[in-house]
Amino acid sequence: MNKPLRIALTKGRLEKDTVKLFESLGFDCTSVHEKGRRLILPVADGKIEVVLAKANDVITYVEHGVCDLGVVGKDTILEMQGKIFELLDLGFGRCRFALAAKKGDKFFGGYGVKTIASKYPNVARNFFESKGMDVEIVKIEGSVELAPLLELSDGIVDIVETGSTLKENGLEVVEDIVNISARLVANMVSMKLRQKEIQELVEMIKTKI
Ligand code: PRP
Repeated sequence: MNKPLRIALTKGRLEKDTVKLFESLGFDCTSVHEKGRRLILPVADGKIEVVLAKANDVITYVEHGVCDLGVVGKDTILEMQGKIFELLDLGFGRCRFALAAKKGDKFFGGYGVKTIASKYPNVARNFFESKGMDVEIVKIEGSVELAPLLELSDGIVDIVETGSTLKENGLEVVEDIVNISARLVANMVSMKLRQKEIQELVEMIKTKI
């Protein structure tokens, strides 16, 4: 039998949605349901090997070719800017990037360089560059909504899903930036060397999304 196709899955919700997708294709995912603390799991009778990783690491493993494929959010793809091939929009994990600020603030008014807090500094920089606006960007790791509340920043660039985190913290969307969803990505070399298997899987997935 061929070497299994190795797929890095973003741990958590995208992992669960991907397992559901795989099961809808008839792949046996028992090993993932019973994983315990294991991180590399055989799926579909050993035809696929699932690697569970954090979102940024999915890009790293796929870019370096130690995983052929990956399932990761468009947010991470935009931020990491890795040399990977985006194959499919999987349709789940939908949310959006938005610029937000304290409710009632006139973000685009006034003079002076604005400060923006974000877990996604590259996305934030690209957004303001596209507007020709000079901003200072502060990288935050955790709940970025804190930054404007503590007056560290004038605004944030972050993921908005339901909008309730913003609302419950007295913030509001100033401008939507881009829609996000989970994507199937591939290593550039795997795309050539394992083209047939990858294409077959892509065609199967397309019937379900
Ligand atoms: C994200 C994001 C917001 C929140 C938005 O954080 O950073 O804080 O979700 O969701 P909402 O619009 O439905 O309220 P997440 O919960 O993923 O946690 P994190 O801070 O660990 O990234």
